[in-house]
Amino acid sequence: MFKEKMDLRLPGPVQVPKEIQMAMEKSFDHPMMDYRNPVFQEVLQETITKAKAIFQTKNIVIPLTSSGASALEAAIINTVGPKDTIILCVIGYFGEYLQGITDHIGCKVVRVEAEWGEIVDPEAVRRALKENPEAKAVFATHCETSTSAINNIKDIAAIVQETEALFLVDAVSSIVGTPLYMDEWGIDIVATGGQKALMQPPGLALITISDKAWSVIEKLQCPSFYFDLKLYKKDLESGVGTPYTPNIALVCGLLEACNMIERSGGIESEYKRHAALRDMTRAGVRALGLELLVNDSAASPTLTAVKLENADQFRKLMREEFHIALGGGLGKVKNKILRLGHMGYTDAADMLKMFAAMELGLLKTGHKVELGSGVAGAQRQWLDNPNC
Ligand SMILES: Cc1ncc(COP(=O)(O)O)c(C=O)c1O
Repeated sequence: MFKEKMDLRLPGPVQVPKEIQMAMEKSFDHPMMDYRNPVFQEVLQETITKAKAIFQTKNIVIPLTSSGASALEAAIINTVGPKDTIILCVIGYFGEYLQGITDHIGCKVVRVEAEWGEIVDPEAVRRALKENPEAKAVFATHCETSTSAINNIKDIAAIVQETEALFLVDAVSSIVGTPLYMDEWGIDIVATGGQKALMQPPGLALITISDKAWSVIEKLQCPSFYFDLKLYKKDLESGVGTPYTPNIALVCGLLEACNMIERSGGIESEYKRHAALRDMTRAGVRALGLELLVNDSAASPTLTAVKLENADQFRKLMREEFHIALGGGLGKVKNKILRLGHMGYTDAADMLKMFAAMELGLLKTGHKVELGSGVAGAQRQWLDNPNC
């Protein structure tokens, strides 16, 4: 009956708040906003200025009309070339993604790895840099969305900063939900997408770049026309806008997301809210008697991976019976885990509803579960920390 009804408890895309939908619709008030006109240029400049708070940076924030992967690719092709050495921190599917990009370019890749569900030891990055002093860059995924583990970006950044290499970070599923202090920690490039904790429909990527990285980028001939970041910097700084047609509606949506974050108490309060959602989710999962993939010390505030055999059958039931979409496993953990998304437009009541439905779904798929146990576990945790 309810064909359109679906609660997205996914690791992205997430539900888009009404405020953001309205801001996007407003951009269609005119027959179509001329993106070179002063009205839009003002919106664009305000958006990229406010977006600095999201990255905790003073650097210019560049919007790209494409998904998150494009910002990862832009980070790499603007800083390293064929045959250059790059160190990749690989802890899951999205770490492999980075290798997909670097293989495409023909870089020499040095991998620093950890088992899926675990994180990279920063000292292993130090060793890799010592053994490969010619390395031009180190690239790490902040939140590995395939496992819900958070790499120790602060400590890795401190190690990379001691060298000439640049430190690039994939913050697609961590930005806003997880503390990340670009300038303070000394990260050179942060790349992200809009459809996660930024609560946008898909199609907008953001990238921001340190002075150290700009000095490398400025000396290199970027092999891509569209993703040549030098052009974006020049046009944005001179007030021309973006070099190519921007997605006007998504820029308006992003501005509203920045305003919403400001109104809610700022980025620090978003970190606290997401941490509370994580703790509530983990308490609920434990109370259900299910096993978490990641230890508390590395658990993401934006999503939670839970071990479950035949997870895809369970997800299908959750979609069809309860109109709740849960994330599934990627790559080698396909059908073996659930990924419960709690980023962006999510509150405590969303999680309680999810746990209540999960209890029924688990019973229907042959698991032993006490009705009310998951909900009660999450509720008890909320009483301890009602920050969400
Ligand atoms: C950590 C991470 N990196 C990269 C991507 C790719 O982003 P997109 O699908 O927006 O291109 C994702 C998408 O889920 C992600 O979670």
